[in-house]
Amino acid sequence: MSKAIDLGVNIDHVATLRQARGGRFPSVIDAAELAVVAGATGITMHLREDRRHIQDQDVRDVLASVRVPVNLEMAVTDEMLAIAAELRAPHCCLVPERREELTTEGGLNVAGNAARIRDAAGQLRNNGYRVSLFIDPDPEQVQAAYDSGAPVIELHTGAYSNAKGDGIADELLRLKTAAEQAEKLGLIVHAGHGLNTHNVGPVARLSQVTELNIGHSIVSRALFIGLDEAIGEILRAMQDARR
Ligand code: PXP
Repeated sequence: MSKAIDLGVNIDHVATLRQARGGRFPSVIDAAELAVVAGATGITMHLREDRRHIQDQDVRDVLASVRVPVNLEMAVTDEMLAIAAELRAPHCCLVPERREELTTEGGLNVAGNAARIRDAAGQLRNNGYRVSLFIDPDPEQVQAAYDSGAPVIELHTGAYSNAKGDGIADELLRLKTAAEQAEKLGLIVHAGHGLNTHNVGPVARLSQVTELNIGHSIVSRALFIGLDEAIGEILRAMQDARR
């Protein structure tokens, strides 16, 4: 198995805390820089349509300050595609978005919106982005992602993270099957959502998965042990699983 596994740290919830008071603290730039020192190989930011946490200027600031790739998560809308064309982050992950949701609840329905997503992925590629599609671990979505021309998929691990009892093994099998299918198609496989030190091991052990994107659990742990230690802790859990 490939031993290396990267960690993209999602800093959205540092901005959530800042937005609670509408000021400048905590700083997402400081968080991004500290995350890199602590071992993050990428910084992920979701510019939501409602701007509930990350703001447009945050993306500009972080792009200007960190030396690792920034992964801009966004919905497939004309507004976001225009912003992406202006910002030029190196990586972009297309995600579904519903205004009333607390978090990104499911994967992008690539199979059901094939033409629109192929077109969006094409526009982003023309702007120099490496495009990834955040999808549920379903065979038809993996195939549709491949057909869209995107080189990367990010498997949504939310159902796995929320599963209980026998459901955990079932969800892990869905992830494994999707990762194997993607590998056969030549896709790069990432995964994320709802992962923490307790549940990350089995996902990190999937040899096809080369990167995990983790946010909420890291920022939550950081309140108690600090951001660098919270990142160190999850990196150790990922790397132990990979040995
Ligand atoms: N990957 C994607 C595409 C996401 O949308 C999110 C949540 O914004 C994450 C990973 C990180 O999820 P969590 O915050 O639950 O770790």
